[in-house]
Amino acid sequence: MAISVEKGVFNLETSNTLYQMKVDGFGVLNHLWYGAKTDCVMDYLLDYPGVGFSGSPYEADNQRTYSLDTLPLEYAAEGEGGFRVPALSAENVGGSRALALRFREYRIQKGKYRIEGLPSVYTGEDEAETLEIVLQDSVSQIEVLLRYGVLPQKDIITRSVTVKNGGDRRIMLRRVHSLCLDIPYGEWEWVHFHGRHTMERQAERLPVMHGVQQSGSGRGLSSHQQNPSVLLCEKGCTEDSGFCIGAALMYSGGFQTQIERDQLDQVRLVMGIDPGTFCWALEPGESFHAPEVILSCSDRGMGELSRRFHRVIRENVCRGKFQFSGRPVLINNWEATYFDFNEEKIAKIAKQAAELGIDMMVLDDGWFGKRDSDISGLGDWVVNESKIRGGLGQLIERLNGMGMKFGLWFEPESVSEDSDLFRNHPEWVIRVPGRDPVRSRYQLVLDLSNPEVVEHLYRTVGGILRRYHIEYVKWDMNRAICDWHSSALPPDRQMEMPHRYVLGLYSLLERLTGEFPDVLFEGCCGGGGRFDAGMLHYCPQIWCSDNTDAHDRTLIQYGTSFFYPISAVGSHVSAVPNHQTGRTASLKARGTVAMAGSFGYELDLNRLIGEEKAEVAQQVKEYKGYQKLIHGGRYYRLTNPFEGNMAAWAFISPDGREALVQGIVYRAASNVLRGRLRLAGLEREARYRVGGKVYTGQALMTGGLLLPWTWGDDMGFTFFLERIDCQ
Ligand code: DGJ
Repeated sequence: MAISVEKGVFNLETSNTLYQMKVDGFGVLNHLWYGAKTDCVMDYLLDYPGVGFSGSPYEADNQRTYSLDTLPLEYAAEGEGGFRVPALSAENVGGSRALALRFREYRIQKGKYRIEGLPSVYTGEDEAETLEIVLQDSVSQIEVLLRYGVLPQKDIITRSVTVKNGGDRRIMLRRVHSLCLDIPYGEWEWVHFHGRHTMERQAERLPVMHGVQQSGSGRGLSSHQQNPSVLLCEKGCTEDSGFCIGAALMYSGGFQTQIERDQLDQVRLVMGIDPGTFCWALEPGESFHAPEVILSCSDRGMGELSRRFHRVIRENVCRGKFQFSGRPVLINNWEATYFDFNEEKIAKIAKQAAELGIDMMVLDDGWFGKRDSDISGLGDWVVNESKIRGGLGQLIERLNGMGMKFGLWFEPESVSEDSDLFRNHPEWVIRVPGRDPVRSRYQLVLDLSNPEVVEHLYRTVGGILRRYHIEYVKWDMNRAICDWHSSALPPDRQMEMPHRYVLGLYSLLERLTGEFPDVLFEGCCGGGGRFDAGMLHYCPQIWCSDNTDAHDRTLIQYGTSFFYPISAVGSHVSAVPNHQTGRTASLKARGTVAMAGSFGYELDLNRLIGEEKAEVAQQVKEYKGYQKLIHGGRYYRLTNPFEGNMAAWAFISPDGREALVQGIVYRAASNVLRGRLRLAGLEREARYRVGGKVYTGQALMTGGLLLPWTWGDDMGFTFFLERIDCQ
């Protein structure tokens, strides 16, 4: 049994971890422990210091040291005399936000719960158990259902929260966080992933200071600027040692992560929908479901934690035909042509690509409506026959005839003012009546909180997928959302719109991916502006960044790798000088970096010179040979690219027989020793053949491998290791 309850103590056990909580004498659910297995009830760690100005619940009478301001709580509500950041805030009786949540009941079920209307981790019946705990506020009759999904083999616990209005008047939810985790002891650091367009998920590790630190997004998207994932690490925790906890929110809209270090040096982590752009009216009898958080912890460092997240996201979040199967090697025309193409140009690129072994031609932005630049046409999903003469069907047939599959770009959520869709349905855009809307990339956003709009998009995109032989969709979204107002919602429901938008998007993706199971959907949001576990439920890969520069990509992909599996990372070789940075990296380096993901090209292959075509053909062959190992292997970060002169990583096959080590040396230097790279994840005693020589795992992990001499900056390297003693 992964879940057990004894004397009011709830134990959630996985292979290597224990999560514990307990109902105390006042009916308050205390958090006791999240960490390594202890085989012990951890309530002996609870302390009741008499802290001045930390008050007590009325029922505690004169027990002045019992305070919800100092106790570790499982789910903290606003207004119960605990002044730390709350997980729940709700205006209830008489406009007050006071709540006092007390334990009411619990249930244990086989299998894993799902959340209505939202993506969530799915499992087989025997792979997980569910614990449901109901807390209640007796005055407002608000019920809080805490759900825990325990995946013992994967060392994963999921959490979700449903709030029900059990009273007889409307309540207003101001904040319903999905996670509340109190950690009374230790010295902590947190790692978050900040960035910007073309430089997403830059890992930053900071001490947890007194007061509240936060990351989040109020942009209607999980965003380029912050990612809905966070690590808490004990001081000294490294890639392969020390304790850390990770949390990833399965949500693609605005979010908030807050970490508070309180007056007693205790740490509280809360995470959920961004309260700044959220409010929800709950009528009597209605329920609200918050998105899911995926949790894991490791006492073997951050590398192990990442591998657990990779596994659960790949195996229990991503779905469909392409979840495990080989992904096609793509050629995308965006950086090759931008908007300046016709069917001949596309066919020429495709022909060259086919000759080099590439599987699929993806036609990017500009194939529809009046779309010769980014100022018009979005919303008119009708092929532009002055560019694609003869139409899409004819082009696809021609490409298929070359042995190439065909994929197509859409940006369904956006609209240009210069489009028939906008002229016919101005009421479908997000804008505040009486105010001019904010333009971004000169475009507006469609109101996906309106079911009519969702239906229109379903019919339009679905119609094209039904009509043509399209085997891949790039689902793009190129702006952040503001001006929240929907023509379809009454005034007192307007602030529900940001969350309703996300629900509309998920329902649309659910219908389309369900109806077209053979189509590979790749998520995109100006690159990686919506790279989160929510989108990965619909799209098993996401275009990682609009920055295709090999050097910058090592930093972006390093940050991405903390939570997201390598198969999820869309990654292409592009032309040099790079279009975003002007850097010139060798084709070898560009190929090496792009191979650490779902691989493709994004340049005009006809412009390759000399030996380059043969090199591309070789790369495609190499990637196809390694794809199973790259996507299905265990991933190790071998360096921190923010600290040294090198980015390096490794994939080790599940049976440990093969490993692929790749990387980039950033700056070349003369008259120095060759670089040395220590490997990880090997068996110490085993012997490995690397390029004709044999080494022990111990030697490779302590002495390391000598890298080739550097010649030029950003030099790529690859080693293949084969374990030889068990053949
Ligand atoms: C942003 C994407 O990230 C790019 O790859 C490309 O598809 C452009 N949009 C097209 O407008």
